[in-house]
Amino acid sequence: MKWELAIIAATVLAVAAVSRRLTGTTLTPAMVFVLVGVLVGPLVILAVPYASAAAVVTKYGDALDGKVIVDITNPIAPDSKGFVTPDGSSGAQEIAKAAPAGAQIVKAFNTLFSHVLTAGPAEGRPLDVFIAGDDAQAKTRVSAFIESLGLRPMDIGQLPMARTLENVALLQLGLVAHSVKHTDFFLGVNMLS
Ligand SMILES: NC(=O)c1ccc[n+]([C@@H]2O[C@H](COP(=O)([O-])OP(=O)(O)OC[C@H]3O[C@@H](n4cnc5c(N)ncnc54)[C@H](OP(=O)(O)O)[C@@H]3O)[C@@H](O)[C@H]2O)c1
Repeated sequence: MKWELAIIAATVLAVAAVSRRLTGTTLTPAMVFVLVGVLVGPLVILAVPYASAAAVVTKYGDALDGKVIVDITNPIAPDSKGFVTPDGSSGAQEIAKAAPAGAQIVKAFNTLFSHVLTAGPAEGRPLDVFIAGDDAQAKTRVSAFIESLGLRPMDIGQLPMARTLENVALLQLGLVAHSVKHTDFFLGVNMLS
C-alpha cells in the first residue's frame, strides 16, 4: 500500500511541476488529484464542484467500486450563509448515496484553500488535513496519503462529522469576508501538551 501512495504523491507533484514548466501556470490540486485518482489510485479525489459531484460519481459507477472516494467539496449556498444539502445531511453523505456499495467516502481537504495546499508546510509545521469517514481502513489509507504529502491528518470521526468540516469551510468564508480579509491562512490544531 505504501508504494501505491508514494506513486500517487509523486505523480501529483510531477504533474503539477510539468504543468508549471510547460505552461507557466500551476494546475490546481483539484485538477491534479482527479487526474491521478482516476488513472492509478486506490483513492479517487472527487475535486469537482459539489453541484456536479453526485452526477460524476454516478457516471463512473462501477469504476469506483472498491475505491476510497475522497470528498473535498463544499456544498455551500451562493450567499455563503448555509448549505445546499438537505437538513440533517452533508455533502459527503449525499455523495455516498450516489456511490457504489463497495466504495468508501472520506471527507478531507475541504478546509484548505488550494493555494495554501499547493504551498505546503507553513511556518515550519505541516498543514492539518481534517478527515471524517465511517471506514477505519479507508481513513488509514487517506491518512497515509496525507502524510506522504508532508501534511498532518487529523481524524474527527464518522462520516456525519463531514457536516462539521463543511461548517469549517463556512467559518473560513466568514473570516475572509469579515476579519481576515484574505485567503492566505489555514485552520489547524496547536498542541499545547
Ligand atoms: N479552490 C479551493 O481553494 C478549494 C478549497 C477547498 C475545497 N474546494 C472544493 O474543491 C472542489 C474543486 O474546487 P476548484 O476550486 O478546483 O473548482 P473549479 O475550479 O470549479 O474546478 C472544478 C473542476 O471540476 C471539473 N468539473 C466540473 N463539472 C464537472 C463534471 N460534471 N464532470 C467532470 N468534471 C467536472 C472542471 O472541469 P472543466 O474545467 O473541464 O469544466 C474543473 O476541472 C470544489 O468542490 C470546491 O468546493 C476548493
